[in-house]
Parts: sequence; C-alpha cells; structure tokens
Amino acid sequence: MKQFDRRKFIQTTSLSAAFASSTSLFSNNLRSSNQKYMGNFAAPKLDKIKIAFIGVGHRGIGHIMRFSSFPNTQIVAICDLYETNILKSESIIKNLKTYNTNIKLKTYWGNENKWKIMLKETDADIVIISTDWNNHGVMAIETMKNNMHAFVEVPMANSIKELWEIVNTSEKYQKHCMMLENVNYGREELMFLNICRKGLLGELYHGEAAYIHDLRYQMYEEEIGTGSWRTLQYEKNKGNLYPTHGLGPVSQYMNLLRNEDTFKSLVSFSSPALGREKFATENFSANHKWNKLNYQNGDINTTIIKTYLGRTIMVQWDETSPRPYTRLNLIQGTRGILAGGPTRAAFDDGFEGFSNNSKEWLKGDGIDALYEKYDHPMFKRLNQITKDLGHGGMDGIMIYRIIECLRNGKPLDQNVYEGCAWSSLIELTSISVNNNGQPQEFPDFTRGNWVDTNTFDIIP
Ligand SMILES: NC(=O)c1ccc[n+]([C@@H]2O[C@H](COP(=O)([O-])OP(=O)(O)OC[C@H]3O[C@@H](n4cnc5c(N)ncnc54)[C@H](O)[C@@H]3O)[C@@H](O)[C@H]2O)c1
Repeated sequence: MKQFDRRKFIQTTSLSAAFASSTSLFSNNLRSSNQKYMGNFAAPKLDKIKIAFIGVGHRGIGHIMRFSSFPNTQIVAICDLYETNILKSESIIKNLKTYNTNIKLKTYWGNENKWKIMLKETDADIVIISTDWNNHGVMAIETMKNNMHAFVEVPMANSIKELWEIVNTSEKYQKHCMMLENVNYGREELMFLNICRKGLLGELYHGEAAYIHDLRYQMYEEEIGTGSWRTLQYEKNKGNLYPTHGLGPVSQYMNLLRNEDTFKSLVSFSSPALGREKFATENFSANHKWNKLNYQNGDINTTIIKTYLGRTIMVQWDETSPRPYTRLNLIQGTRGILAGGPTRAAFDDGFEGFSNNSKEWLKGDGIDALYEKYDHPMFKRLNQITKDLGHGGMDGIMIYRIIECLRNGKPLDQNVYEGCAWSSLIELTSISVNNNGQPQEFPDFTRGNWVDTNTFDIIP
C-alpha cells in the first residue's frame, strides 16, 4: 500500500529540482552515457551457477556449506590468505555428494593480492566476498569488471567514494552487486514486512534499528579470525561501523529507495569509549597489543535518520557494552507498533481480534496467533529446507533466494543502491560524530531514479 501520496509529494517539493541542486559533499549527479540504472535490474537466466569465493574464514566457509546445500551450484575457485582455511574448505567441497570431479577446483592463497589472479583466471558467474571490512569495495568492483556478479558480506564498503564506484561499475558492466544482508530474511523481519505491506500498521512514520551485540570476546582471536581485525576498527574509526543489520529491514518496511521515500539526512552522536580499554586491561597483559590501542570509538553510537517524507529512524550500534543482544527492529505506524527481540506488537482498537488496546504489548498466545496468520509466505515455503543453515534460517533463505532469482532471471531482493545507502552510514555517522552531531546529507546513489524503482513485494 502507498501510505503517502508520492505524486503529491513530488509536486509540492519539486523533487527533481531538489536533486539537481543538491550541494551534498558526495553528490555525483551525472550518469555516464555508458551506464544504465540498476534499480529493477534482472540478469539473463543462469542454469547452473558457477561460484568463486574470496575469504573463506568464519563466514565464507558457512557460505560454502549453504550454497552447496542447494542444487544447480558449482564451486569453481576459492581464495584466502591462509592455507589452513583453503585446505579446510577444499576438503568440505570435495566431500560433497554433488562434487563434480570433471571441474578442477582452483585454489589461491598466500598473499593479499591472490584474489586478483583468481578473478582473471576463473570463469565463475558470481563471486562471494567474505573478507574483513578493509577490502569489500575494491573486490566487488574488480569482480564486476571481470564480468561476474558480486555478492558482498556486510558492509558493502566503508567509504562514500568506494560506494559511488561500486554503483558506477555495476551500472557500466550491468552486473549485480548485492550486499548479503541476511537479517532481512529473519522470520520476525519477514512477518513485519508482510504486515507493513498489507497496510495493517497504517501509515509508517518511525522506525528503530540496531546492532547491539557484546562481541568483546572476539578480542581473544588475537592473530587470525574476526577479532584480529575487527578490534583494530574501534581505534581507527568513529561512528556506526556496522549499521546495516538493523537498518536493512526497516528500510524495506518503509519502502525506502523504492518509489515511496528515500534517505535524506542524519545526525549522529557517540558515547565515551570505555569498555574495550577496560576489557583489554582486565584480560590481557600490560604489554599486549590490545593494551597499546587508543580506543576512540564510543561504546554506543546513536543516529537519527530523517527521510524525504520526514519519517524518522533511530539506528544504534554497540559491540562493547555488557548487555543482551538486540536489533530493536521497531516499526511504528498510525494504527500500531511492531517491535523485536522478543516479538511484540500493539494495535489500536479492534485490530482483527488480536488486540484492542495499544497500551499493552500483545504477548504469548497473541504473538503465536500473529505469526500463524502473518508469517511471510517466503518463510513458510523455505523454512523447512533452510532452518539449519545459519542464524535461525535467515542465512539459508538469503542464499536460496539468490540462487532462485539468478536461475529465473529475476531482480534480486536487495539492489545495489540499498546496499550502498545502508552502508553509507559508516562515513556519514563518522563525519557527524566528529563535528558535534552536525547533520549530514545522504548521497542519492540512484540519482533520482528511486522514484521509478519497484517495491520489494511480498514474494511467495
Ligand atoms: N551477516 C552476518 O551475519 C555476518 C556474520 C559474521 C561476519 N559477517 C561479515 O563477514 C565478513 C567476514 O567476517 P568473518 O567473521 O568471516 O572474518 P574472518 O576473519 O573469520 O574471515 C575473513 C577471511 O578473509 C580472508 N582475507 C582477508 N583479506 C584477504 C585477501 N586480501 N585475500 C583473500 N582472503 C582474504 C582472511 O584470511 C579470513 O580467512 C565481515 O565482513 C563480517 O562483517 C557477517
């Protein structure tokens, strides 16, 4: 349902003029004549999907298992810094029932540039990038230049400059570049999307999103693994370093970047940085490398986004505080509210017998009944085959959908502009935090074409 009158909005705000006159630091308004908008892009159908991997650590190995669980996939090459990760992955792949001995698996490891050779030598259809945050952007760009679709772990890239280059390369080479935002496929998130699309919350005007996950234990991964590189980020950068998990779903509930509304500006503040230094002092020797870092980035970052229609989204990020996990996952409309972890809901008078009192959360049997009636049809169709494939099934649904869309020549569920806009918070929040919360304009990676982009509908 169109909750706002877009046409009226465009008339009254003279939207195109607003874009043309944008003075944003990051505006990049001209699309070259050899580029084409990718908002509704569908690539030619692929029968069997040949896959290469860059980065087969914790997350990359998981993706190998997931892709291999489904038919019509063939892993053709893997690359990592470390031989141990390559040997582990190779053994998993060669023990698959579906392993095709006629196609030799190519392996690359040993230094940080081997992936470039892999891209040149490999005839894959898609490349899955699951490396640390430092090189997602450049790897995605080179993948597309080598004629393959890129699928990039979160976030898409760290800088606005790189995000623009991703957009321009995707438009020029007509290749998908999808950020692997798995949270959009969570059962709760899919049900909320279903309820929002049915218009049952009324007009949506506020959301709350977060990645609040105490990851201090990762600091024990001192030489290799996630903590070995992620810990350094708390010294290097300020702002929200990991904004996409909570924001992706809220963005799709509100239909942002897809013909209804889009990101406009944000303000951002961070708390003092206390927890990492405390953890390092208490758990590592005085001369340990973690005790030599100058932890700069506040333990909790809070950002408020304003959309073009004036809606608000609060986004929080905290990987340090001693507190339970949450993504907040809250969406407020004129008829009620949905909130996550655990699932809660409250509706105004007389909502289908579920609730007649918006002052109390629907709980227990009420929530079960809500799931019974409004579970997303995609979740109902795929849960049985994906439920054991990671993060309660969301990872499996994401990979299944990628294969399904590519094989049927359909647009992917998340387009390149969504991945870029959600990731752009990293630099925008950093600038805002460093300037006492000064408002920052979002770059419009669609160059105004979001108004023509199809809604991500309810796909059965
Ligand atoms: N969506 C999710 O739920 C989720 C969960 C965990 C991690 N992630 C993301 O996945 C990515 C990887 O995280 P991880 O936990 O697997 O980290 P990890 O350290 O376990 O794995 C990263 C791998 O990348 C390899 N690598 C780094 N630079 C390379 C290069 N130049 N060439 C080849 N290989 C290179 C490393 O050797 C390592 O094996 C991160 O972006 C992280 O944010 C997402």
